[in-house]
Amino acid sequence: MNTHTTPASILCVCLGNICRSPTAEAVFRQHIHHAQLNIQVDSAGTSANHAGEPPDPRSQAHAKKRGVDLSRIRSRQVTEQDFYDFELILAMDTRNLNHLQAMHASLAAQHEGSAALAEVQLLSAKDTAHKNQPLPDPYYGGYTGFELVLDRCESAVQAWLADWQQR
Ligand code: 4NP
Repeated sequence: MNTHTTPASILCVCLGNICRSPTAEAVFRQHIHHAQLNIQVDSAGTSANHAGEPPDPRSQAHAKKRGVDLSRIRSRQVTEQDFYDFELILAMDTRNLNHLQAMHASLAAQHEGSAALAEVQLLSAKDTAHKNQPLPDPYYGGYTGFELVLDRCESAVQAWLADWQQR
């Protein structure tokens, strides 16, 4: 798979899977539904620290104000199987990108090639206004951090859809 074609499935990945990646998942879901595209979306964390938990109440509250519902999402850790199950894996920041690229390299080495593996990119890879800028972790911050996550997810998701619809 490459990002020149619309992927069948996308996995959004941050550290805890309770703030940024559930937001990206839900924003993707909303835009995919609106555009009547058939793309599966999920999210996961590189850590298992919050596994089984719903998204952070602050993320849920900020998203809800914009009509984005995070309530049904539950945190889980990213697995090796995800690289076979998803076509595109989107990291929210550079630390998580490095983690995913290391997993990708290890799987490619074990299985002699990366043809069957997900492509790994930053969420912001196509966002011309914030190209390849990491999405800051809002967990220890305040109001503006959670609003920024929503703004950047909106902008990045629109950029991916525009990119696929051009082709
Ligand atoms: P996320 O945010 O990676 O966007 O879900 C975080 C959530 C929890 C922690 C760090 C980041 N934590 O350290 O517990």
